[in-house]
Amino acid sequence: MRMRRKKHGAERIAACSEILIENPQIPAIDPQNYFSEKRPIHLEIGCGKGDFAVGMAAKNPDKNFIAMERVSDVACLALEKAMAAKELRPDNLRFLIGDAKNLTEWFPAHSIECLYLNFSDPWPKKGYAKRRLTHRGFLELYRTVLCEHGILKLKTDNEGLFDFSLEEFEALGLTVEWQTRDLHRSEKACDNVMTEYERNFSERGQVIYSAWVRF
Ligand SMILES: C[S@@+](CC[C@H](N)C(=O)[O-])C[C@H]1O[C@@H](n2cnc3c(N)ncnc32)[C@H](O)[C@@H]1O
Repeated sequence: MRMRRKKHGAERIAACSEILIENPQIPAIDPQNYFSEKRPIHLEIGCGKGDFAVGMAAKNPDKNFIAMERVSDVACLALEKAMAAKELRPDNLRFLIGDAKNLTEWFPAHSIECLYLNFSDPWPKKGYAKRRLTHRGFLELYRTVLCEHGILKLKTDNEGLFDFSLEEFEALGLTVEWQTRDLHRSEKACDNVMTEYERNFSERGQVIYSAWVRF
């Protein structure tokens, strides 16, 4: 997600420090330490402007959500959205500004129950396949941090990325528990919390692909 540099970005992020995991400890500590109550940890990678994370946290008060975004100016908007949703914002949502490639430094093994990848950058050029968040290099990181039988939930508008992801899951022997090539017409549509990209794409008539993968 490209974005013009935010004015006073650092100050705006600092104003949200109560929901920001700043300088996550290395070696990683139990992510439950970032919350006041212990609940299963759900992690979104590439949260963008935060609609999904804010919506999911409000809808699932029995889970602790961490939303990760590597672009700080984008994370700033997500943080401000979460702070503004005060009445919705329970104590179960935190943000982390950083890159998924460092996941295993920030999260101990088997500490995450569910991982979400929503509309990840497709990196369509062949030479860039390793940057895709469903490339086997990333899947190995997810395998480390996910609990036994943890789950990865993927949504994308990009058929090429979806097909590539299914191939990568198969190559690693992962079980695709559920998949659809039209999420909004599937049996899971009623429980679906939309992301910003998802709303834009579906308004333009684009179908949404989704898969749930058991580790
Ligand atoms: C296409 S946007 C989708 C945003 C949001 N998930 C949505 O559906 O509206 C992808 C987001 O993932 C972030 N991202 C890409 N690679 C990442 C990585 N390795 N670690 C963390 N965030 C990443 C980008 O900065 C961008 O904000």
